[in-house]
Amino acid sequence: MTSLPHSITRHSGHISRATRERLTGQRALTLWMTGLSASGKSTTAFMLEAHLIARGRLCAVLDGDNLRHGINQNLGFSPDDRRENIRRVAEIARLMNDAGLFIIVSLISPLQADRDMARAIIGANRFLEILISAPLAVCENRDPKHLYAKARAGEIPDFTGISAPYEAPRAPDCVLDTTRLTPDEAAASLETLIQSHQKG
Ligand code: ADX
Repeated sequence: MTSLPHSITRHSGHISRATRERLTGQRALTLWMTGLSASGKSTTAFMLEAHLIARGRLCAVLDGDNLRHGINQNLGFSPDDRRENIRRVAEIARLMNDAGLFIIVSLISPLQADRDMARAIIGANRFLEILISAPLAVCENRDPKHLYAKARAGEIPDFTGISAPYEAPRAPDCVLDTTRLTPDEAAASLETLIQSHQKG
C-alpha cells in the first residue's frame, strides 16, 4: 500500500448519512456475494437487482466479470491481483453506499482475508457476506463459459477450485444453495435479509 502525500486532506460535505437515508428511504448496505465460478453469483445478483428496482429501491450490481472489462482490466488472477480487484470493488461499493444505494457485489473473492479487507473498507455495519453455494462438481458440470474444461486441460492457470484455493466464509450472513433454489427464490431470501437490516 502506498502512503498518501501530505498535501492531500479530506473535505467533508454538508449532508449526513441520516439526511440521505431520509431522502432515499433506505439504509444502504453492501451484499457481498462470494462463491465459485458458475455457482450462480451473477444470476442471483441481477435477479436481486430486478426485485429491488421493482420495489423502488435504489441499487446497483458490481460484477467481477463486468468490472474486469473496465476499471479492473489491468488485473489478472494472481493472489495480489485478486486482492487489488477486491480492494477496488470494496472502495467503489463504499462510495456508492455513501451515495445511498444498495450495492450487490458478485466476485469470487476466494480468500477470507480479502473479504475481511472488503468488510473493513465498507464498514462492518453495512456489509453482509453471502455464500452462493454449489459443489465444485456442479459448477464444473454447468461450465457455461467452458473455463473449467480449459483449466483442467492446463490452458488457464490459477483457476479457482482447480488450481487455486477457495475458502468458504467462516461466518456468512446467509448461504444460498443454488442447486435447490431458483434465482427468484434466492433473490427473495436476500430481500428478507435486507429488510431485517433496515433498522438501527
Ligand atoms: S476474483 O477471484 O478476483 O474475485 P472475479 O470474480 O473478479 O475473481 O472474476 C472471476 C471470473 O473471471 C470468473 O467468473 C471467470 O469467468 C473468469 N476467470 C478467468 N480466469 C480465471 C481464474 N484463473 N480463476 C477464476 N476465474 C477466472
